[in-house]
Amino acid sequence: MNPKHEKGSRIIIVTGGSGSGKTLLANHIAKDIYGGDCEVISHDMYYIDKDRFDPDYRVDYDAPESLDNSLLAQHLMKLKNGEAVDAPIYDFKTKDRLEKTLRVEPHKVIIVEGILTLAVPELRQLADLSIFIQVDDDIRLSRRIIRDFVRGGRGALEEGGGLEGELKYYFEHVKKNYKKYISPLTDVADIILRNNANTPDQMIRRAETILTKFKIV
Ligand SMILES: Nc1ncnc2c1ncn2[C@@H]1O[C@H](COP(=O)(O)OP(=O)(O)OP(=O)(O)O)[C@@H](O)[C@H]1O
Ligand SMILES: [Mg+2]
Repeated sequence: MNPKHEKGSRIIIVTGGSGSGKTLLANHIAKDIYGGDCEVISHDMYYIDKDRFDPDYRVDYDAPESLDNSLLAQHLMKLKNGEAVDAPIYDFKTKDRLEKTLRVEPHKVIIVEGILTLAVPELRQLADLSIFIQVDDDIRLSRRIIRDFVRGGRGALEEGGGLEGELKYYFEHVKKNYKKYISPLTDVADIILRNNANTPDQMIRRAETILTKFKIV
């Protein structure tokens, strides 16, 4: 156990739709606000591997049941108690968990980021603070396309790839599930940050101000 964190980690949930800026904000908070005394756990690491589903079952990766939420909840409880955990590593290409795991030590703060982190009650109840990043649908879609398609980043190209596949996936899964699971959580989150501007600077400054003001830093 890291002696500095005998009392355990505080948990901050960062949520919002796909393309809202969760990964960007979480990494910024970890590095620039907590100077590294903070680890980011992505909910995506806890996807259930495809072998644990019925072969005929069409997994919806934007729905809570595609994630091993009980395992993540157990890990967060351990981190809150000052214990390290071995987080799973998910391979998006094979849709399987790798043999190896990622050791996560307790830190002052653990950020858990993902589209469904706040939508799952057993995760929500473990958060000391929750941040919802709110961005208009068309802006989030544009950012996803630029990140996944134009820049060739992480691809959610479930329907055969290409821009057409990206848009089909967005309208059939991402948009529908955003309405169902994510947008209602603006009523539940402790803090709402808007990130519609052309740069994330304003959102980052507001996050810094709030975390400092409420002595979460
Ligand atoms: N205000 C902004 N202006 C311009 N680009 C932005 C802004 N905020 C975020 N981005 C960019 O938009 C893309 C999406 O951001 P990011 O990957 O952090 O979203 P996310 O919420 O983690 O999405 P996902 O749920 O799909 O992982 C990234 O390329 C990021 O650099
Ligand atoms: Mg992300």
